Amino acid sequence: MRIARITISDRACAGIYEDRSGPVIDRILSDAFPPGVDFVSILLPDEAALISAKLRELADVDQCNLIVTTGGTGISPRDVTPEATRAVLERELPGFGEAMRMCSLSRVPTAVLSRAIAGTRGQSLILNLPGKPSAARECLDILLPAIREGITLLRGEDPHIT
Ligand code: MTE
Repeated sequence: MRIARITISDRACAGIYEDRSGPVIDRILSDAFPPGVDFVSILLPDEAALISAKLRELADVDQCNLIVTTGGTGISPRDVTPEATRAVLERELPGFGEAMRMCSLSRVPTAVLSRAIAGTRGQSLILNLPGKPSAARECLDILLPAIREGITLLRGEDPHIT
């Protein structure tokens, strides 16, 4: 089992500020999955071609079961994460984005500014999360049960047989 997390931020890449959401996500995922999972952490700028190429490599070559991105999902001029992700998805999972926005909205009215998407490529589940650490945590908490079951289904296993 292999999980990759990509923080997407021009400013974190340039060292202007520290990547705070990446470590939060790493902690949540390492608590959520059994020991022995192989974790990969990556930092990329808001460049669509670079993001798509890395997603392809993590899915096709590294065979990651789960690839989580954080950041670049909004509408600032440089935000391109959803476009870069959509370019590599074979099947989109609209419910993931809908759930993130719907569940976050009651607490955070600005949650609808995230265009985060999710889907699959081969046996990889690919998921965008917003860039703010609290937002990434809230969205991941909502989605963890579906992420777990999705990974099992993508491996061709029956999630109801343990
Ligand atoms: N979702 C949750 N749960 N909590 C938040 O605070 N912030 C929103 C939104 N989603 C937020 C959230 C805001 S203010 C923005 S601009 C978008 O996520 C996009 O963030 P990103 O461009 O850093 O990915």
